[in-house]
Amino acid sequence: MAPAPAQTAEKESKTDLSEAEIAVHWKEEELFEPNPKFIGQANLTDPGVNERFSLEHFPECFREYGDLLSWDKYWTTTLDTSNAPFYKWFLGGKLNACYNCVDRHLDQYGNKAAIIFVPEPEDEEPTSITYNELYARVNEFAAFLRDFAGLKTGDRVTIHMPMVAELPVTMLACARLGVIHSVVFGGFSGEAAGRRAADSQSRIIITMDGYYRNGKLIDHLASCDIACDTAKSEGQVVDKVLIWQRHPGKVSSSKPLVSGRDVLIHDAIKPYRGKLVPPVSMPAEAPLFLMYTSGTTGRPKGCQHSTAGYLAYAAGTSKYIQDIHPTDVYWCLADIGWITGHTYIVYGPLALAGTSVIYEGVPTFPDAFRPWKISERLGVTILHTAPTAIRQLRKLAPDGPKNFRTKYKTMTTVGEPIEPAAWIWYYKVVGKGVASVTDTWWQTETGGILCTTKPAIDKMKPGSAGPGAPGIHPVVIDENGNEIPAGSNKAGNICIRNPWPGLMQTIWGDADRFKRQYFAKYNKNPNSKDWRDWPYFAGDGATLAADGYFRILGRIDDVINVAGHRLGTKEIESACLTVSEVAEAAVVPVVDEVKGRVPEVYVALKPGIQPSKAIEDKVVHAIESEIGKIARPSAVRIVPDMPKTRSGKIMRRILASISNTMDVGDITTLANPDVVEQIRQQVQGKGKVAMKTAPSDIKDFGGKQE
Ligand code: WTA
Repeated sequence: MAPAPAQTAEKESKTDLSEAEIAVHWKEEELFEPNPKFIGQANLTDPGVNERFSLEHFPECFREYGDLLSWDKYWTTTLDTSNAPFYKWFLGGKLNACYNCVDRHLDQYGNKAAIIFVPEPEDEEPTSITYNELYARVNEFAAFLRDFAGLKTGDRVTIHMPMVAELPVTMLACARLGVIHSVVFGGFSGEAAGRRAADSQSRIIITMDGYYRNGKLIDHLASCDIACDTAKSEGQVVDKVLIWQRHPGKVSSSKPLVSGRDVLIHDAIKPYRGKLVPPVSMPAEAPLFLMYTSGTTGRPKGCQHSTAGYLAYAAGTSKYIQDIHPTDVYWCLADIGWITGHTYIVYGPLALAGTSVIYEGVPTFPDAFRPWKISERLGVTILHTAPTAIRQLRKLAPDGPKNFRTKYKTMTTVGEPIEPAAWIWYYKVVGKGVASVTDTWWQTETGGILCTTKPAIDKMKPGSAGPGAPGIHPVVIDENGNEIPAGSNKAGNICIRNPWPGLMQTIWGDADRFKRQYFAKYNKNPNSKDWRDWPYFAGDGATLAADGYFRILGRIDDVINVAGHRLGTKEIESACLTVSEVAEAAVVPVVDEVKGRVPEVYVALKPGIQPSKAIEDKVVHAIESEIGKIARPSAVRIVPDMPKTRSGKIMRRILASISNTMDVGDITTLANPDVVEQIRQQVQGKGKVAMKTAPSDIKDFGGKQE
């Protein structure tokens, strides 16, 4: 574990960042109108939605979302704030999430595809799973989980799986039983999965033997032994590992099975084939799942999402913002192991009886035409991806989409700020100038979209996420707690004034941290039961233009957004410190043309140890095994010492400036100013520093602590 962050954080206000400074990178762009043909078929075309979802009608406006679900027992209280900010939505109601995503569609849509699985290898055919088929698979797997694995309502299960159809089957089977699933991104290492399994006290891990990625069959099973060992070292015994097979009947892994613990589902499920399990009627506020995410401290935190509030919000935003109809073929390229995949591959689309495409591999395999080929073949009408993928596909084949008969009606981007040039390419070349583009800003904690344009109503503005989604009332607040007015050209912290049904309930096992991290900053009265006193603090910098559109500037904490994946620098630093030669580590973001940001690592060695390539390699290896390949640094710099304040705090901001060839600013107050020039020469060579205008997340990096 990394040492606790010093409380003497040298705070640097972000509120002095003017729109003019930002405009150096991104100038205000022209506005684009939604296409009339799209408007003609859209779910949300009534501009009265703004009034319907105004604060005046809060919280009852969210009945509209609650009413998208089927209830065993209708709720009595739409929002209970008696223990603010631990809110309860749709209190008194009972329902089952799996029933809402599967059973209720059988009469009308039983023969329609719920899921289309597209394997990465092109010689393997896509497979469609109808709602009838999904019902059968989910039921038998639920029977297996209950009767073979002994899982009961309220238990937690860690799911460490790739992008295959068995993943939503697994999640929905858990939801059917009221078992709380915790899906860990398949690309995370065994250690990372094991730590999450321990935190959630999972005694069962569900995994898959292998999967295809970038043309290779990855041996995924090897990581489950490590996960079990890591969980055990943290006090949690995993007594069963349930293993799906990428090629049923054949093991795609060289790892020997551990007898008594490892179970091949394909064989063990046989007695449960065709079994039906009644969906367990769950209280509205029962947790549906945990999703771990990175924050300011070393340990990832388990965001706990509710059954009714989350599902209602997923369904409502999928209907109004993603514009999903049962007739759509909807393809979100995110991974189900992240929140985007939970809400906008699994729960939202399936709650609306949509058809959701699950693609196993990378968008550039075997070439940068793959997304357009898949879209043409399957008739994809809605595309949802991240700026990283857009930048990469554009770079590799800028005219690629022109050769395909794709017919998107609307397209989404999520995960990072998208620069106007990439936005315009997405709109004009991918969407052929007819598809709406929604730039959706939200977070793991928020369950669903917070800022976005309404695709058939609002004008689109490249580079801006847009106004609050229906019923979401964002505000930009400065460091002193004052609201920054629209159009004032000042940046501040984006907050949401009001609660909404998709907001996480708490951090698993750490209610204090939930309160502290998301609400303490601007709360005026800790005893208040009035939601107005508890603005939600998102941890992103933003500006608000005169037209009410929010522009998200990026994280204001120690989180780096790598290709849309949220990584905690403290987690990466902890991994570096597992290398015995390393005394201190600091991780900073570096601007990358395709991935947005990549981590760069600075380490100082213990006394008497000489720098070597072998130590650099050990650091990279430690990061890959503690977290996963996605956290691989662009460089490891072994430095003589870290730049430090007199109170001993490592000045990551200075290192970030050096890595990004920016001016390091005033360093005279440091305890060791000389080391800065030494490090600068080591990283940049002897030449003069090239001055660049800094993106705000880099300029202020490490300036704030939890
Ligand atoms: C960033 C992903 C700019 C932001 C849904 C946020 C964005 C973090 C956007 C959450 C966007 C997400 N424009 N930045 N449209 N969407 N972000 O939890 O910094 O993986 O706080 O949730 O991604 O990442 P997370």
